[in-house]
Amino acid sequence: MLTATCKAAPNIAVIKYWGKRDEELILPVNDSLSGTLSTDELCAKTSITADTTFTEDKMWLNGEEVTIWDNARLKNCIEYLRGIGEKKLTDKSVLNYKLHICSENNFPTAAGLASSAAGYACFVYTLATLYGLENQELTAIARLGSGSACRSIYGGFVQWKKGELADGSDSIAVQIAPASHWPEMHVLILVVSDARKKVGSTVGMRLAVENSELLRFRASHCVPKHTEQMKQAILNKDFATFGEITIRESNQFHAICLDTYPPCVYMNDRSHSVSHFIHKYNENAGEVKAAYTFDAGANACVYLLENEVAKFISYLNAYFPNDESPSDEYVRGIPVQPNPLSNSDLQSFGLSATISKNTFKYIIHTKVGEGPQRLDNNESLLGADGTPKNLKS
Ligand code: PMV
Repeated sequence: MLTATCKAAPNIAVIKYWGKRDEELILPVNDSLSGTLSTDELCAKTSITADTTFTEDKMWLNGEEVTIWDNARLKNCIEYLRGIGEKKLTDKSVLNYKLHICSENNFPTAAGLASSAAGYACFVYTLATLYGLENQELTAIARLGSGSACRSIYGGFVQWKKGELADGSDSIAVQIAPASHWPEMHVLILVVSDARKKVGSTVGMRLAVENSELLRFRASHCVPKHTEQMKQAILNKDFATFGEITIRESNQFHAICLDTYPPCVYMNDRSHSVSHFIHKYNENAGEVKAAYTFDAGANACVYLLENEVAKFISYLNAYFPNDESPSDEYVRGIPVQPNPLSNSDLQSFGLSATISKNTFKYIIHTKVGEGPQRLDNNESLLGADGTPKNLKS
């Protein structure tokens, strides 16, 4: 019996991927760039066991059995990796063993984070580890699961190069810098209470590619420039530039969504009030100290340096008061001690009174972290008989 257990984290794009030029191979119309989050706060965990006695491939997702072969994307990832195994492995017998796959993610569903990125990255990394192929090019395989998953194959700051070739072989992710290059880079995820159903990214992207003229201009003119500036900002640890491009990119991505016919609206009034607050915060600081970015949902992700977190949360709590604050349930993850603010601090900040109570359900405090990691076999989600240790009753 062969077994492997690994974990991987989601990533938050600062240069957004939006639009495919090939839907089946998941090839994007533009490059994108993200920070992979630390697995300490948010992660997907996958265990895979392969054995000669298994009679069929089986998969359990968050405690419930799902059918593997109905899922074309999962199937593509498995077949592609087995294809690499056929070429690289001396003993290929393991490639014929049936698989038991068990995967869980610890994300609060309301966090609105693309669990698919961490999930597919973790799945591909775990299967590659099981086969002894973890040093192969895995990003193009994770991409077949979910585009943004290719960036979660590495930690730190990662660029997904769109590539030019029709077969997608050059559409891969590369690490720009490891997390250790800029360990002060922290992230706050502001989970807003409103969880309205949104247009999924596959449909939103398809419509945008079909009919947004701005998307074409963005892909050819804006993204190449932003990507180069962003890479330099990361290498120079220049937060002001990093932050400004992050904000501009988020706004431009949502402008494309509005330019789509019919429009895809992901941000809501609460999202806009966060954006307004952050612009005021940066104006008062005299430079960009906090950078918001929104994906295909209403929750804000804020990049900021570690030494800014306490001050930022103090002002955030003042302008967005919450009945749960202060508590570990409200600000989860890395502990933070907000600074007390005086009346004059609040007056000079210049935003009129509080916006509304309980704007956020809770906040997750995390940081940019390492890529996927293999865990000890005793952390496996599968028991010695190859069935899940925890099943939903
Ligand atoms: O990989 P998908 O299909 O979940 O698309 C992700 C798209 C965004 O999150 C909005 C942007 C990005 O680059 O991650």
